[in-house]
Amino acid sequence: MKEKNLRSSSWFGRTGKDGFIYRAWMKNNGIPDHEFKKPVIGICNTWSELTPCNAHFRDLAASVKRGVLEAGGFPVEFPVMSLGETLMKPTTMLFRNLVSMDVEESIRGNPLDGVVLLCGCDKTTPALVMGACSVNLPAIVVSGGPMLTGRHKGQPIGTSDVWRLAAGLEEGSVNEEQLRSMEGDLCRSQGHCAVMGTASSMACMVEALGLSLPGNAAIPAVDAHRKVLAQLSGGRIVEMVKENLKLSDILKRDAFENAIITNAAIGGSTNFIIHLLAIAGRAGVQLELKDFDTLSKDIPLIVNLQPSGQFFMEDLYYAGGLPAVLKELNSFLHKDAMTVNGKTISENYASAECYNKDIIGTIDKPFNSATGLAVLTGNICEQGAVIKPSAASAHLMQHTGPAVVFENIEDYKQRINSDGLKVDENSILVLKNAGPKGYPGMPEVGNMTLPKKLLQKGITDMVRISDGRMSGTGFGTVVLHIAPEAAAGGNFSVLKTGDILTLDVPKRTLQAHLSAEALEQRKKERKPQQFHATRGYVSLYIQHVQQAHLGADLDFLTGGSGSNVAKDSH
Ligand code: FES
Ligand code: MG
Repeated sequence: MKEKNLRSSSWFGRTGKDGFIYRAWMKNNGIPDHEFKKPVIGICNTWSELTPCNAHFRDLAASVKRGVLEAGGFPVEFPVMSLGETLMKPTTMLFRNLVSMDVEESIRGNPLDGVVLLCGCDKTTPALVMGACSVNLPAIVVSGGPMLTGRHKGQPIGTSDVWRLAAGLEEGSVNEEQLRSMEGDLCRSQGHCAVMGTASSMACMVEALGLSLPGNAAIPAVDAHRKVLAQLSGGRIVEMVKENLKLSDILKRDAFENAIITNAAIGGSTNFIIHLLAIAGRAGVQLELKDFDTLSKDIPLIVNLQPSGQFFMEDLYYAGGLPAVLKELNSFLHKDAMTVNGKTISENYASAECYNKDIIGTIDKPFNSATGLAVLTGNICEQGAVIKPSAASAHLMQHTGPAVVFENIEDYKQRINSDGLKVDENSILVLKNAGPKGYPGMPEVGNMTLPKKLLQKGITDMVRISDGRMSGTGFGTVVLHIAPEAAAGGNFSVLKTGDILTLDVPKRTLQAHLSAEALEQRKKERKPQQFHATRGYVSLYIQHVQQAHLGADLDFLTGGSGSNVAKDSH
């Protein structure tokens, strides 16, 4: 490729004062003059010791650099804000859009020709893909990889056990000492959560979209093959720059449909919906909440991983990884969808093999015929809600019961175990103000722990409804992402304890037994919502965040602005 064709040449290829400034300060790192003629590859790094799942990313970046150098590129690593699920309050989801802005402006404002996105813990993947889409340079994703399966006293453990342990702690079968003894056994290697939680679902999503090299999703973080994949990705991005293979050449409607079909088959996270909708919004691809139901309803669960099944990401890798899953899905997928290696998705999985049918089943012999995700509508979710049937209880799929309403998370925590709370296993727990504007940031609190008195009776699941999200590692008959959320003043906002609700997953409905008139009357009497943030990013977020059915992106961030920057800095 001729130097003048590189985007970076409008920095490094310049003469006079501007070219001098653009090159001179870079040379303080000992960069020889000829490097500036090469394709400049940004390595967008979400490394942080506050994001333990991504704490090995400087090693990963080193492997990417080797690949870039080997292919004749000029690698430049840069940090962006990182989001660690386990530490960050009140929820990383509040900051996904902020990171996407950081990524977008960092890419556009700098002399980059292509970019490698290093993604791991849940939100780091959608945030980086969203930001990169709004610039639309050649880009490739390298995921950090899952942890090795946890081992405690000879038994495998993973993140989904956290929810079982929380219930055990509440009900008295687990004590604090036992919990402590498991801490070091759960997360026993570098990497992200080892179940099919959100991080793994996102790693599968990028592979199914065609944004990573084949096999990216499942290789454990500490497996040498992960570094090999990183190095090969570094080499490939240099080629992609030469071919001018941009994100928009890959992210067509077909790719999104492939990702939705894949997410259903793997029992992927409900968070996948929100993130894919937001990515589609950035990429300018028409995608609606109901598409997730339509496209996934005939797809059975063929991957036997927790929380919908039994095993872990490490097992999926040994069984053949995502390519083997995609091959089994061959008859459902758009086979001609382009991927980052310049081949179609079907060319990529053509030679894949399944090595363990207990982990990767077949369409004819799936682990569960329940589809991955169902989209509900009704008079308390006018713009939709979602449930993950594969992680729910069959006996609650059609259920009518009285609501026990909590106005917010503080109200839930205060009253859930109070003696006076009238609740039994037929009740439906309702949590309001866990939505994008209401919390704010739409946290993963939707899988509320059941009341202690019911846990002690041996009840393990109840219908729970909220405008929040649930961890991708969570499970239960949990209706999530109610839109409009309570804080946006839809019918959900005026539900009261004692209202009778009916969940009917086969019919895809969620209804309150209340007339339209009664709901309207209650809304007239409802006090206007108070929002607490008056300054800073949180205030901006509350003003501009869209509802869950649109992907909870900020309204002014949808679409993209391309990669052109007309003005110089001096
Ligand atoms: Fe990072 Fe689960 S906490 S992926
Ligand atoms: Mg999470």
